[in-house]
Amino acid sequence: MRLALAVLASGRGSNLQAILDACARPEFPARVVVVVSDRERAPALERARAAGVEALWIDPKDFADREAFDAVLERELTARGVGLVCSAGFMRILSPVYVRAFAGRALNIHPSLLPSFPGLHAQRQALDHGAKVAGATVHFVDEGMDSGPIVLQAAVPVEPGDTEETLAARILVQEHRMYPEAIRLFAEGRLRIEGRRVIVTPEAGR
Ligand code: GRF
Repeated sequence: MRLALAVLASGRGSNLQAILDACARPEFPARVVVVVSDRERAPALERARAAGVEALWIDPKDFADREAFDAVLERELTARGVGLVCSAGFMRILSPVYVRAFAGRALNIHPSLLPSFPGLHAQRQALDHGAKVAGATVHFVDEGMDSGPIVLQAAVPVEPGDTEETLAARILVQEHRMYPEAIRLFAEGRLRIEGRRVIVTPEAGR
């Protein structure tokens, strides 16, 4: 049986699209069962519908606090038998309620080489800092901000004359390749968390 994925996205959803495209391949060991957004008009929800995947909007305004929102999020995901939750541009901080419920079963992607430049505007931070190398990271979600154990990273050069947009576009190419790869490794049972480290088991027969 293919692993049931949920994707959490607030915006454009290009990483979601890369995941949907990967899942459309018959040999890919996971499928997206629901896409959840905190924004009613998120293009990510449109992408889900276009792929025939359930698109679920949970309105933060309906909840008194973060914990109440996250409790409903957890309930909705659990009801759908979700085995892995992938945040992809989900612009909400997730509370310990959620993080504990999905410990070791929640991934995030961040457009920097963590632990450098966590938080918002990572590409801008890298440029402002004068970094020569930038990149992206897929990591497990923990209770901190972009701080969980690292699964995969990819580096790209910062070119002279880069703007936030040109650098973001170069990083995004790597994001779209790397997120499906991390999901595949998880689905194949090849990721083991040991403290801060994620051990990737080689493919059988290698
Ligand atoms: C990506 O750069 C991702 O790393 C970050 O937010 C952006 C989301 O882009 N967390 P998209 O919505 O997947 O196009």
